[in-house]
Amino acid sequence: MLFSRITGTGGYLPERVMTNAELETMVDTSDAWITARSGIKERRIAAEDEYTCDLAEKASLKAIQAAGKTCDEIDLIVVATSTPDVVFPSTACLLQERLGVIGPPAFDVQAVCAGFLFAVDVADKFIRTQSAKCALVVGAETFSRILDWSDRQTCVLFGDGAGAVILEPGDEPGILSTHLHSDGRFKDLLCVPTGVSRNYQKLQDGGAYVTMEGGEVFRWAVTAMSDIVKETLNANSMTLDQVDWLVPHQANSRIISAIGKRLGLSESKVIITVEKHGNTSAASVPLALDEGVRDSRIKPGNFVLIEGFGGGFTWGSAMIKM
Ligand code: COA
Repeated sequence: MLFSRITGTGGYLPERVMTNAELETMVDTSDAWITARSGIKERRIAAEDEYTCDLAEKASLKAIQAAGKTCDEIDLIVVATSTPDVVFPSTACLLQERLGVIGPPAFDVQAVCAGFLFAVDVADKFIRTQSAKCALVVGAETFSRILDWSDRQTCVLFGDGAGAVILEPGDEPGILSTHLHSDGRFKDLLCVPTGVSRNYQKLQDGGAYVTMEGGEVFRWAVTAMSDIVKETLNANSMTLDQVDWLVPHQANSRIISAIGKRLGLSESKVIITVEKHGNTSAASVPLALDEGVRDSRIKPGNFVLIEGFGGGFTWGSAMIKM
């Protein structure tokens, strides 16, 4: 049996740091409120002329280097993003051109903050069916572009960034299982209600912004991300004790704490980056994974459970032996 293995990780954050103190000068908020309600102290914001593909490219090059690969060995590119550079071509195609990868399939998946889990699931299937041998999987976002910077309920929570992994085949896992869910009944609770086919005029007028029912999203995120941990453990006949690291979507430290409490999981086994990154949507999980790998908390052979939750609702997880 063939499995896919993560052989390299990479991450990139734009240079510009936006602190809570800076937000205090923009909207009626405070460092104390943002810290208490979300755990976020600062986030990165892409430069005006810096786009999702630019962030994706930088994260990808680091992952490719970490895997000891060259761009011409990549035979699949999957980019998870809800903030593509342009409506089309896909950000994956733009990234492909940047990397000089000519010919193999490149496409985007869109599952908002759970996007990276969806992308990993798809790439894992390509590897296991021998349709690809070296997959580049990226989560990249410039969420700052779809924030209403006068709406204190949303603008304080998000940031920009990109994370990437290289997946290659191996005889042993690797990725032991992936789990995906969606429930479109909750489409209105977390969304950008503006698009190409609908409300296009608003888009042209610069009115495409994230809207969110914070309390409802909070409750659903905690329930879905706790339940999917149990689903993932059951699928692998594992207990929580056997998991070395949980890498959850980095939306809010209170959501992460509530998940830990529900599961009885010590925070010392959770990778947390939300304090410095904010919620970078599809980039949050690969960025946190990369940070854990690069600072050597996550070691080869560790069992790592990654999970995400986002608009849709969408949620997903993967159990990985590093
Ligand atoms: N600064 C100061 N006050 C703020 C504020 C801000 N940035 N944003 C909202 N408030 C105010 C509200 O207006 C409200 O005031 P009121 O009581 O006078 O009406 C008060 O703070 C409490 O608001 P509430 O929405 O009940 O706070 P909360 O404890 O639910 O926290 C969130 C709000 C958004 C932090 C929380 O609901 C949350 O984290 N939700 C999930 C968000 C998320 O992670 N989304 C992405 C998932 S992928």
